[in-house]
Order: sequence, then structure tokens, then C-alpha cells
Amino acid sequence: MTKALILSGGWGTRLRPLTCTIPKTLVPVGNRPVIERLMLLLKEAGVKEIVLAVSVMSEYLNNYFGNGEKLGLNLHYTNEKTPMGTAGALKLAEKYLKDDNFFMINGDIIINFDFKKMLESHKRDEEIGLIASRIVEDPSRYGVLISDKNKKIEKFLEKENFNPSIYGNSDMPVNAGIYILEPQIFHYIQANKKLSLERDIFPLLASEGKLFHYPIKGIWKDIGLPFQLLEGNILYMNDVIKKLNLEEKNIIDNTVQLDPSGKINSPIMIAKNVKLGKDNIIGPNVIIGENVEIGNKCIIRDSLIYNNVLISDNAQISKTIIADHSIIHHNATLQGNKENLVIISSYVQINKNIKLISSPNRAISVCHNEIVKTDRT
Ligand code: GDD
Ligand code: MG
Repeated sequence: MTKALILSGGWGTRLRPLTCTIPKTLVPVGNRPVIERLMLLLKEAGVKEIVLAVSVMSEYLNNYFGNGEKLGLNLHYTNEKTPMGTAGALKLAEKYLKDDNFFMINGDIIINFDFKKMLESHKRDEEIGLIASRIVEDPSRYGVLISDKNKKIEKFLEKENFNPSIYGNSDMPVNAGIYILEPQIFHYIQANKKLSLERDIFPLLASEGKLFHYPIKGIWKDIGLPFQLLEGNILYMNDVIKKLNLEEKNIIDNTVQLDPSGKINSPIMIAKNVKLGKDNIIGPNVIIGENVEIGNKCIIRDSLIYNNVLISDNAQISKTIIADHSIIHHNATLQGNKENLVIISSYVQINKNIKLISSPNRAISVCHNEIVKTDRT
């Protein structure tokens, strides 16, 4: 098997306003698009040809990846005029995938597992689909797998069909969004129809005993919500630091200008051409993109800062995501909450002395191009 399909065509509604200006699968993980991380992992496993099932803002993906040459991959695009659902998207890729089994992946997950091992455990004769699974504390956000002791899936219950009062609400294996599929799957999907794999096709395959699951270890995170995007980035950074066995527990590009008066609390990750002024305290859990400039006496922790951001003196930033080209003027306080972050979209300006403080049940989101002139709590 040398092919894979990556789903990259949803609306990304829950990640708005970050997905108002880029498709969901281009949001950064460790300063590279989440989908690029997936492509590189597939390449490591020997995959050479990848179909990107695109729809919403597809031209952005096309412009970014082109034919895949730069990544050493052969890329194809199937374009849905409006999203056709996960199965509809797959059906459109039939001509590329009909000859052999293939990987299919949700394009919005952060992972680091070995695809080759999964392939080794796939039983072609018995299974039309092998689904990577993961035990999670709260399965109700995912597709839940009810299976027998041989990991044969008896029921596939996508979130709205899962009733915790019947099955309990913890430690259930859920669909991790990574599949090995046999070409027979195409017989189950009607052409030119909006269909969901998880709602229309997998339940049917499960009832026929053709679906199995494969528990995966290592990091795994769906980045559907902003706080999950932040958590996923931190997981990714820690994983890279662990793999490289870095003594400093930071990944800082050697072009970064750091004033020695500053303090770093590990782990942090900083991309190239970043300039940090005096007396800053950065970290823990901060990822900073390229060409970012940070003034003096800023305190930044638990936050993501995309490329080309400017942060002036005395900023206090925590549990916040700041998208590209935004400007934070003097003395700003951006303070998010555990699951409700402060989210600043692209090309935003936050005026001086502004306080944006989210509460435990409400995030604060600033749309692209907005100029924030008053406090928000
Ligand atoms: N091309 C295309 N067309 N892609 C789509 C469409 C579509 O109509 N709808 C969604 N996608 C893509 C999204 O961009 C994302 O990469 C992936 O399909 C999954 O869609 P989400 O909207 O993120 O679904 P989810 O996270 O709520 O649930 C899915 O993922 C969970 C694991 O992360 C399901 O597969 C669950 O069963 C699973 O547990
Ligand atoms: Mg998702």
C-alpha cells in the first residue's frame, strides 16, 4: 500500500475565528500546518501518493502544497463544491484508490504513531475497515466503538447516537479518525450523495462484522476546539523534545534574538527570525512562529503565537492564541481560561491598556481585521 486520503474539507466552525481566514487543516502545530505533519508521518511510513479531499477554502491548500513536490509526495485533490460529508468525499477519490487498500485520515488530528505497524495487523480477508481507536475519558465528543474481545466492532455510534446511560461514560474506545480501508468500501457508498462514513457507512459495516479496531498509543488529539488546539500543540512540542532528548527542553531556532535579561520557563518553541526584548518571562508552554517581535517586560505562558505578530511592552498573555499579523499594543492583558481561551484572529489590533479576560464558561474571540478599543471580560 502506498496511498492515503486525508479529509480536509470541513467548515471548522468550532475553531472560528481562527478558521475564518484559513481552512482548519492549515492551523499550525509546532508552527507547521496540522495536515503537513500528517503528510510527513505518512511519508515516513512509505506512503508516496496522497489524495486531499478538499472543499471549504480549497484554494489555500492548493496554493500551499501544490503537487506535493516540495514534500517529496505526489498529491491529488478532489474538490467538493459544497462539503459532501466524509463518505461523499471518499467516494470522489475512488479513481485514485480503487486498486489496493489505503489509509484514510481525518486531517485535524495530532498524532505520532507508527502507520506501518497498523498495516501489519490489518487482516485483508476479514476486514473492510480497520479503525485506530483510543480510550478517552469523555467519549461523548467522538464516535464510540462497541466491540467484542477480538476487537470486532459490533456497533459504531457517532457522538449523537451514543447514550452514556446504556454504555457508561468513561474509558470507552473511540474512533481516532485513522482507518485502513479495502476498496470494497466503495460498493457501500452511493455516488453524488452527501453521506457520512461515521453515520451511514460504518454502522452498516459493523452490523456485517467487517469492521475492527486497533488501539493506538502515543500522542493523539483532535484539534476541533481552540483549547484542544493549544493542548495538542503542547503535546506535540513535548513529544519532539522527548524524541530529540533535548537537555534544555526548549526548541529555539538559532536565528532568534533573545536578550539575556529575559527568563525562559521550559518547554517553549520559537521559530526563526524572532526578536525578544528585555526582561521578558516566556513559558512554560509557549509556541512562537516566525518573524515575531516581542517588546520588553512581557509575561507570556500557555499560548500560541502564529507568524508575523507584534507584541509591545508589558503584555501579560496566558491561555491565548494570537493568529498571524496581529498587533498587541502596550500594557495589554490577554487572559484565557482552561477551556475558554482568548482567541485573536489574523490582522487584529489590540489597543494599549486593553484587558481581554475570558470566564470559565465563555471564550473571548476577536475576528480578523478588528481593532479592539474597549475591555472585554
Ligand atoms: N472533504 C471533506 N468533506 N472533509 C470533511 C467533511 C466534508 O464534507 N466534513 C468533515 N470533513 C473533515 C474535517 O475537515 C476533518 O478533518 C475530518 O473530516 C473530521 O471532521 P470533524 O468535523 O472534525 O469531525 P469530529 O472531530 O467531530 O468527529 C470525527 O473525528 C473524531 C476523532 O477526531 C469523527 O470521525 C469521530 O467519529 C471521531 O471520533
Ligand atoms: Mg475533528
